[in-house]
Amino acid sequence: MKYTAIAPANIAFIKYWGKADEVLRTPLNDSVSMNLSEAFTTTTVETLPDGMSDTVTFLGEEQHPDEERRVLGAVDRIRREAGMSDRVRIVTRNSFPKGIGAAASASGFAALTLAVYGAFGIRRTEKELTIAARLGSGSACRSIPDGFVLWEKGESSDTSFARSLYPHDYWDLMDILVIVDPTRKKVSTSAGMEQVRTSPYWKERVASVPDRVKRLLDAFEQKDIHALGAVIEEDCLSMHHVMQTQEPPLDYFNGMTRTLMELVPQWRAGGIAVFFTIDAGPNVHLISESRSVSDVTRRLEGVKGIRSVIVNRCAPGAHESHDHLF
Ligand code: DP6
Repeated sequence: MKYTAIAPANIAFIKYWGKADEVLRTPLNDSVSMNLSEAFTTTTVETLPDGMSDTVTFLGEEQHPDEERRVLGAVDRIRREAGMSDRVRIVTRNSFPKGIGAAASASGFAALTLAVYGAFGIRRTEKELTIAARLGSGSACRSIPDGFVLWEKGESSDTSFARSLYPHDYWDLMDILVIVDPTRKKVSTSAGMEQVRTSPYWKERVASVPDRVKRLLDAFEQKDIHALGAVIEEDCLSMHHVMQTQEPPLDYFNGMTRTLMELVPQWRAGGIAVFFTIDAGPNVHLISESRSVSDVTRRLEGVKGIRSVIVNRCAPGAHESHDHLF
């Protein structure tokens, strides 16, 4: 059987940084995200006749043995959980470059999870799919449900799952992803967050998240972009403060990142409701409502050193596609 899944990347408004359990990939805190319309992974999985071995092909990219192992580890886990023994052929393609802080692992493991269960002909609830995707990469659980998504940290593997807070068309929020460096990041998120407890500020951050989640939920209810943006920037700075004070320090920003972080408040002072957030890389996500996008992109045109800009709407979650990759 052959099954193809498409899953969006997501940008976290409240970030996941640090695990309560490294193997189960349960997080230290709740996180909230928006699915991205233009950054997604397509994955086709086909079950193979007996005697064949699993294969993984990343289209349009070099093969990375570590990633291949991680993908096959996720497939093994799903096989065990589903009581299946079939080997599979996996072909996958990203709509955007990997390792740029646009959460390729989120869309990748979300699409893989849906496609493997689909190829096995096994139905799972959305909640179960988010748990399975989380075991591949934490943030992948947020790429399964529709639109704006909350991942509750939970107390155990079964209670650490993601659910939609609002559908993708609830609010016309946009993510203008500004690529300032398209190369792969040097330290992976998994390796980076293993060191979280070496920062003297991690406990403070974890303790401060529930209040931000509450303020974020209020902002969503009111569709108050200024209240939302304030929380988004605060949480981004809180996470990067922890990263930068870890041992060894992890500084994902470059000069362009800092320039944009300085410009955004100036643009706000000039009347544009735009806010920044940054994941584990130097590229900057600008969050605004759709009516502000042309103002923001015009301002960006005046900034030297930007490689490209990807304008994302909020997108549905992982879903089936009938366009197979092979
Ligand atoms: C900075 O989900 O990539 O993007 O669970 O180890 O695969 P693993 O980590 P991953 O971490 C994402 C970290 C982040 C913040 C976020 O997306 O919440």
